Amino acid sequence: MLEHGGRLRDAALHWRLPLAGWLDLSTGIAPWPYPVNVSAVAWQRLPEEEDGLEAAAARYYGHPAPLPLPGSQAAILWLPRLFAPGIAVLPAPTYGEYAPAWRAAGHEVREIAIADIADAEADVIVLVNPNNPTGAGFAPEFLRALAERQAARDNWLVVDEAFADATPDIGIAALAGTELPRLAVLRSMGKFFGLAGARVGFLCAAPALRAKVHEALGPWAVAHPSREAAGQALADTFWQSAQRLRLAAASHRLGELLARHGLPSTDGGRLFRYAPTPAAAELHDFLARRGILVRLFRHPDALRLGLPAAEADWRRLEAVLAEWSSP
Ligand SMILES: Cc1ncc(COP(=O)(O)O)c(C=O)c1O
Repeated sequence: MLEHGGRLRDAALHWRLPLAGWLDLSTGIAPWPYPVNVSAVAWQRLPEEEDGLEAAAARYYGHPAPLPLPGSQAAILWLPRLFAPGIAVLPAPTYGEYAPAWRAAGHEVREIAIADIADAEADVIVLVNPNNPTGAGFAPEFLRALAERQAARDNWLVVDEAFADATPDIGIAALAGTELPRLAVLRSMGKFFGLAGARVGFLCAAPALRAKVHEALGPWAVAHPSREAAGQALADTFWQSAQRLRLAAASHRLGELLARHGLPSTDGGRLFRYAPTPAAAELHDFLARRGILVRLFRHPDALRLGLPAAEADWRRLEAVLAEWSSP
């Protein structure tokens, strides 16, 4: 099992603090989830395609046929198995699920510096935009040129836009398999919409690749209540605008709070801050002993913090960091 954020039960056992008292800032999941309203019938009846989810997703992503997935994780696992074994290039560091998935499917994985991506020779290049955990963003023009270059060599570009919803201008899902035939884009309902537990994501890709993934997933891949919840969230443009404002303000506030305590950080799609610091491991432990869980990364040493929501949570984080940074 790879390490992930959100493992509060493990943290509670490890640091011997009761589950209820933790402030969990270890994920990039928005702390204000979409307020879903699931019908009783959704629990009882099998889900049907074309119940409105596909149409809502097509409008939201600007793509003719996004394929619903049981979380974008499903495509992270399936895409490597659907491409002939070859060279897969990933930036380092990036989301930890990718390298093992491509390796397990028989590809040679090359992890390279982000700065070298433009010159990479690969059957498939996989990028996360904005990147998790560093927050680094790739400009859409750069991605378009990269996808065109890959296509000219019969190669592929896969872009994971799990954290792109709060900064929609960077998204290129609309081009995937339409204007750019060898571009595949993954989207997630888990982060911006705060619906990680619903396990819903989408693949935007050319019809042939879409069909292969659809077939691999089989029928009823996304649970009926999850389809209903996702359909509501994707159609609610008023809520989406409010969420963008809330997230932008909170990410800015978190950046300032961290800076006040000697921790410069970068923004990750307004959903987390990434703070490289040689003291990462020590500070991670210091926070955890006080019931605040953040995500620790090594090589390079850094912390990733999700957004606090309640005022009391902001004050708690500020107080613990003040304790840490005061001599
Ligand atoms: C970059 C990235 N992509 C995809 C996922 C998987 O998201 P989900 O399967 O919930 O859609 C995550 C989860 O943390 C992620 O960080």
